[in-house]
Amino acid sequence: MTVFSQKKQIETAVDALKGKQLRHGFVPTMGALHQGHLALVKKALTENDKVVVSIFVNPTQFDNKDDLVKYPRTLEDDLALLKTVSKDKILVYAPTVDDVYEGNTVSQSFDFDGLEFEMEGKFRNGHFDGVGTIVKRLFEIVKPQRAYFGEKDYQQLAIIEKLVDKHNIPVKIIGCPIYREPNGLAMSSRNTRLKPHYKKATPFIYKTLKTAKVKFGTKSASKVTEWVENQFAKHELLKLEYFIIADTKTLKPVKRKSEKRAYRAFIAVYADDIRLIDNIALN
Ligand code: PAJ
Repeated sequence: MTVFSQKKQIETAVDALKGKQLRHGFVPTMGALHQGHLALVKKALTENDKVVVSIFVNPTQFDNKDDLVKYPRTLEDDLALLKTVSKDKILVYAPTVDDVYEGNTVSQSFDFDGLEFEMEGKFRNGHFDGVGTIVKRLFEIVKPQRAYFGEKDYQQLAIIEKLVDKHNIPVKIIGCPIYREPNGLAMSSRNTRLKPHYKKATPFIYKTLKTAKVKFGTKSASKVTEWVENQFAKHELLKLEYFIIADTKTLKPVKRKSEKRAYRAFIAVYADDIRLIDNIALN
């Protein structure tokens, strides 16, 4: 496995692949890799000759300085984990902030047709401008034919699809299902920071989402939302930030259900100072 820390090196490697007519997929990450990330890498390996994995904690997408500072950085472990999946088909790009941003860590401002103002956009100021800025830049450097994103960050996936569409970036975006712990908790790099008693409480999130899905079969979105809010109001450890049932295309909260639309429930919860997100398809 080759590990590059400089833009020029990965660009040369990618050009060499193109010269040999080899297809490469791309999995952008912020590291602290877990089985959820690996599921994306494995899928990419089945569909491409080579896979580029970027490992970069992107400062411009953090609205909370403390979260950025505390974000786990585990490069050696990450490389060891990637080696368990493939020894010769993965290229890693793990740059410094300066290598990617060249001294200018200011986000570009994007118009994602309103997707950026819903849910995470309301609670994380400037987050999607930061994500758009880094992903667009990484696409320009890595020039993949396909790029893989998890439904765990469903709004991010929708925004990336909008990004490539609006900016005519020649890459196919592939969404991958949420990978969960056996107890239902969606895997996340932040889970490693959960104190044991909080960790024990977190399966409640997915359990509640699954019940909400059943209830949505017969009840209105507002009734289901009220029920979820009550469940969390009674919970001693987990604090609900939002629960929203939204249209999967517009990500706008559903007012009146229609048989013709697809809906998803989205949730953000605090376990101590750790923010966890999850979502579930409802129909
Ligand atoms: P990160 O949180 O490291 O996630 C990298 C990719 O892995 C994202 O596409 C995310 O949705 C996916 N992922 C994380 N946990 C997952 C899980 N449990 N199941 C399925 N997929 C999962 O998302 C980012 O980094 C950054 O915003 C990034 C796109 C790299 C831009 O900086």
